[in-house]
Parts: sequence; C-alpha cells; structure tokens
Amino acid sequence: MQTLLIATRNGHKTREISQMLGSGWQVSDLSALMHAPRIEENGATFEENAALKALTISRIFTGLVLADDSGLEVDALNGAPGVKSARFAGPNAQDADNRFALLGKLKALSGTEFPARFRCVMVLASQGALLGSFVGTIEGKVIPEERGHGGFGYDSMFIPHGYSETFGELQPEIKNSLSHRGRALAQVLEFLRS
Ligand code: IMP
Repeated sequence: MQTLLIATRNGHKTREISQMLGSGWQVSDLSALMHAPRIEENGATFEENAALKALTISRIFTGLVLADDSGLEVDALNGAPGVKSARFAGPNAQDADNRFALLGKLKALSGTEFPARFRCVMVLASQGALLGSFVGTIEGKVIPEERGHGGFGYDSMFIPHGYSETFGELQPEIKNSLSHRGRALAQVLEFLRS
C-alpha cells in the first residue's frame, strides 16, 4: 500500500483523487493533520500556488505530498475566475457564492455558451524538495445556468467538449476519466512509476 498526503482541506478534491487512485493507495489530507498551517494562496499562477502548498506541507510531514491547484478559465472573462476560482465572490466565498458571481458575469454578456477550460496543476514534494509539476486541462464551455447536482465548484455550469451534459450531470467516473484533475494525476502516476 502506498501512502499520499494531499495538501488540501477541500474534501471534494481528496475524494476525487482517492477514487482515481483506487485501493492500492492510502490517501489522507490536511483534515487529518491538525498542526498543518493555513497557507495563503497568494501566487499569481496555479503553478506557484501548488508549489507553495506542496513545499510548505512537505516540510512538516514525512512522506509523499501532493498539492492540487486548479480552477476554471473563461475566455470571454479574460481567463477569470482562474487562480481566484475558490474566492471569486470574495475571501470567504462558498462554491454556491462563486457560481452565483459567475452566473452574474455570464448573464451580462450576450450568448448562451462560452468557451472555457478547467486547469489543474499538481505538484509532488517530499521532505521540503519539489519532485515535479504536472498540468491537466479539459476544454469545454460554461453556460449561464446550473444543471445537475454532482461534483462541486463550477461543475454544474461546465460542459466538457464532446458532451451535452455538465460535469454536475455526468457520473463521477465519467468526470474523472476526462477531467483536468484526472489528466494531471495520470502524469503523476507515470512519473512515480518511472
Ligand atoms: P484551489 O483550492 O485554490 O485550487 O481552488 C479550486 C477551486 O477551483 C475550487 O474551489 C472550485 O471553485 C474550482 N475547481 C477546481 N476544480 C474543480 C472541479 O473539478 N470542478 C469544479 N470546480 C473546480
């Protein structure tokens, strides 16, 4: 059994990564590490934030650490919400607040669908050293309405390329097989195997 600490308190990310890794892995996150510091994600890019999270946690934890920094980029909004995806509606925003803020911005534009992508940068670290950085993206479009109750974040507003359902409507296995997170994780596994 291999062990992995995910440098996040976002249980949705942990659940998806855990489901994708399967039974050969023992996965935990910061909810199990009481003394873990709060990390201010003040980087300008997903890469910077992921590296900051992975390095900070790998200095206080012995073992392999994986950080995931991710978000939604909408072309018509110049790439927003982007790195601010988790706090698009403000510093303490919940997912529903962020979707509401995005709905407002999309409704102010003309159109019923807008090219967008999810991006995920994963960084692996161990004992204060960076081991590698891996990027996954999924292209698609956002719609100015919510459809489906699955997933988290902006899933109910995002339709991946080649599908007519949102990530909120698709089964978790389908989302995982296509998603930015799944694509980044596949590269992490390839790196660990080699
Ligand atoms: P982070 O914790 O700074 O990486 O922010 C991640 C934010 O991006 C989440 O709070 C969501 O708003 C959004 N996000 C990232 N991945 C997904 C996903 O798979 N589905 C929906 N929203 C996502």
